[in-house]
Amino acid sequence: MNKRGKFIVLEGLDGSGKDTQLKLLYERLVADGVDAVLTAEPTDFECGRMLRRALSGELDASPAELAALFLTDRVKHNCAPDVGIRALLEKGQTVICGRYYYSSFAYQGIDTDINWVMDMNLNCPDIIKPDLCIFLDLSPENCRERIEKGRDKTEIYEKVETLRRVRSRFYDVFKLLDGKENVKIVDAFGTVDQVFTRVYDAAKSIF
Ligand code: TYD
Repeated sequence: MNKRGKFIVLEGLDGSGKDTQLKLLYERLVADGVDAVLTAEPTDFECGRMLRRALSGELDASPAELAALFLTDRVKHNCAPDVGIRALLEKGQTVICGRYYYSSFAYQGIDTDINWVMDMNLNCPDIIKPDLCIFLDLSPENCRERIEKGRDKTEIYEKVETLRRVRSRFYDVFKLLDGKENVKIVDAFGTVDQVFTRVYDAAKSIF
């Protein structure tokens, strides 16, 4: 029987460099001989597609609806046969995931009841707890700068004021989860290589 793979989540504000670091971590772990798989939320399943329409403002959805949709998308992400997180871990693969329930706590936790959002995610039997969450920490102003450089379209959560509130929510959440979840906060200010050294060090701690 295969040894169960590791489950690593990368979190961070929009513009924190999460996607770049996610890809670098995947490539480095593969080079190290780890059988790794890259994935992200919202997913490409039906529910994830609906979420993207809501995030772009095309589809109207209340904060509670968004929280419920993210939960549904996460259950699918965990349980899909062969390609779901559970199946991959059971095959011995290491799953590296961009965003997970910590994002629901921080983003939906601003506009709806955070305890409800945390309870339904943390107590759902079909949602697996990660072995490690790496939070890429960057100031909202630096995030916004990177978002503006990167693309021409913005999403509903990308205003500086919102980023500020989300970041402080992430900190509240990590305090609440202290001792219950393995969270490592990494300084995301610096060059891609400098930040990656920190990300890789954090990831290595669970191997
Ligand atoms: P995406 O375009 O994938 O951006 P990023 O590269 O920053 O992850 O959009 C994801 C957006 O979804 C992001 O603004 C955060 C939000 N989100 C939530 O609000 N709740 C969640 O549970 C998740 C997974 C994401």
